[in-house]
Amino acid sequence: METEERTTVLIIGAGPAGLVLGNLLAAAGIDCTVLERQSRSHVEQRARAGFLAANTVRVLTAAGLADGLLAHGRQHDTCAFRTDSGEFELGYGALGNGEVHTVYPQQDLVRDLVAEFLARGGDLRFEAAALGITGLDTDRPAVTVRTADGTVRTLHARYVAGCDGRHGVARTALPAGAVRRYRRDHGVSWLALLAAAPQSMAAVAYGVHRDGFAGHMARTPDVTRYYLQCPRGDDPAAWSDDRIWDALGTRLRADRHGPLHRGAILERRIVDMGSDVLDPIQYGPLFLVGDAAGLISPSAAKGANLAVMEAELLATALAARLHGGDGQPLARYSADCLPRIWRAQEFSHWMINLLHGPAGDGEEADFLRALQHARLESLRTSRRHQDHFAENYVGI
Ligand code: APR
Repeated sequence: METEERTTVLIIGAGPAGLVLGNLLAAAGIDCTVLERQSRSHVEQRARAGFLAANTVRVLTAAGLADGLLAHGRQHDTCAFRTDSGEFELGYGALGNGEVHTVYPQQDLVRDLVAEFLARGGDLRFEAAALGITGLDTDRPAVTVRTADGTVRTLHARYVAGCDGRHGVARTALPAGAVRRYRRDHGVSWLALLAAAPQSMAAVAYGVHRDGFAGHMARTPDVTRYYLQCPRGDDPAAWSDDRIWDALGTRLRADRHGPLHRGAILERRIVDMGSDVLDPIQYGPLFLVGDAAGLISPSAAKGANLAVMEAELLATALAARLHGGDGQPLARYSADCLPRIWRAQEFSHWMINLLHGPAGDGEEADFLRALQHARLESLRTSRRHQDHFAENYVGI
């Protein structure tokens, strides 16, 4: 049986993008419905990123969405690079624009955003999967939705926000030829790890090693995020806890800088580093936000921060259009977002080249390794380079 419903803004996806957008629209008195194909407990437990940029904290604070992160988040203002030549720290909080990160696990942020949206009387439907979007060439777009009991409904809206991530339906609804896709496979993979162990050092640490990159990032007092570069197509099951800790110790040079706090590995997942950007990120009444609009490699922790920046721009533009009629900000949504997206992509791409050396030996590999060394030396010794790094590392 099929039934029909109507809302003003239909948001597909309850990740950071959809939930921030929903909360901002609710605060502006705009009627919206959020559809999420997973259960509430699934999205509230999904461990992802955790580094919130200063702009993200500003947006969330101004919207009354930051109580949890201000109470429990931890400020980070330093990162360290460990190489053959030793360790150097960059206190980026005292460089560039003087901005710092707030470390707050993404699942905690998602939990806060869900609670606040429901407290604001928001309509949030879990286990409701969007199957497709139609009517994009009309002012009456529609989304077909299947709920857990198998019922299929059609929801009509004035606008649709595709916040459904990289594999969502919003991307596939775009007519061929209407949108250009820029894509890059960085050719690098990471074994992303969560360890039941306190952080091993105060700073974020990037280990640049001939065996591959290793990263250390604090999350909570009991859980630390680590990354290990691994071959493309590697099997996470081939990485035992001991093998992981040994590789982390080697690449982060525990012999020189002190041992790592070991603990059980709670999660091991391979991430292939890829990026893409869609242009434009709007088509008729459909607007893409977050991973749906573009993927960014996790090398500089920009994904969730871009999503919040875009959600704020879209909420402001929708409110202007729906409250008084100025449609210009909405028409410009894509054009306003894309320069910022590209700037974040450029910095993330630069970080990938900073952190990953070439595989193998030979003249070309030696050349690339020497370039990587020169890049790190420039960052270690040039105050201007450090300011530029700090501005882009935390800025969005
Ligand atoms: N119908 C309903 N919901 C869907 C559908 C669908 N067809 N397809 C996907 N979803 C949901 C997913 O289950 C998920 O909860 O959309 C949500 C998308 O959330 P994220 O993947 O977290 O994407 P986004 O909100 O854009 O996240 C921004 O945070 O950690 C980072 O990697 C993340 O870079 C990304 C950023």
